[in-house]
Amino acid sequence: MSRLTERAPSTLAELWKRKGPDLFYAGDKYRQEWIESWLQNPKRIRPAGMFYINHIKPGEKRDMVDASTLTNHVKLNASDAKKVAKILAEMKGHEALIKSEKHNASISPGPLGEMMFDKIYGCMACHQIEPGYGGLSGSEIYTAGKRLTPEFMLSYIRSPQAWDPKIWMPNKHLPDGNVQKLVNYIIALSKENFTRAII
Ligand code: HEC
Repeated sequence: MSRLTERAPSTLAELWKRKGPDLFYAGDKYRQEWIESWLQNPKRIRPAGMFYINHIKPGEKRDMVDASTLTNHVKLNASDAKKVAKILAEMKGHEALIKSEKHNASISPGPLGEMMFDKIYGCMACHQIEPGYGGLSGSEIYTAGKRLTPEFMLSYIRSPQAWDPKIWMPNKHLPDGNVQKLVNYIIALSKENFTRAII
């Protein structure tokens, strides 16, 4: 179950049991139009599910996703998707965190944005920057710009634990300019049209 209450998992045991993302701050996190269309045609965003340890198996060269252990998300019709997206957009459990962010779209990511993501900060060890390329323990990042509000991404990168106290994404204590560059890189990435390898 996704959590609709105003509380993220506060122990590792709770974190491991989580089967869907916390939704009590869905309105702070997601773009409403994306939720509406995703619910009608849900595609996997976390290549190895909510908790990757349960869904990877050793491969010849590296770990691989064991797709047989993953389930598909329920699909809604257009009218239900619209209603659910509207309700979720009103759930703003972390409004204060969002209000303290200011997205600066004019900071170009340049080549440094990608370099920070792939190498300098090691984000790619957990996130895929295109289908099949990157780590398996985080969500795919090449669709994040379409899914998420820029303010959520800024705040989450600044402090993942402010949103999800037990999550394994590290807080890198990045300066604001670099956080803005990373977010603008993620937004630029989501404008490229990758054909999806993993559905
Ligand atoms: C050790 C693994 C790990 C590393 C390294 C890591 N992340 Fe994450 N990241 C995660 C996990 C796990 C989540 C939560 C995904 C979820 O909602 O299931 C996450 C979530 C995110 C989100 C929100 C995405 C979403 O789909 O909800 C963004 C944006 C993000 N990370 C960016 C970064 C950036 C930028 C870096 C490098 C500075 C980074 N991450 C490094 C594991 C990691």
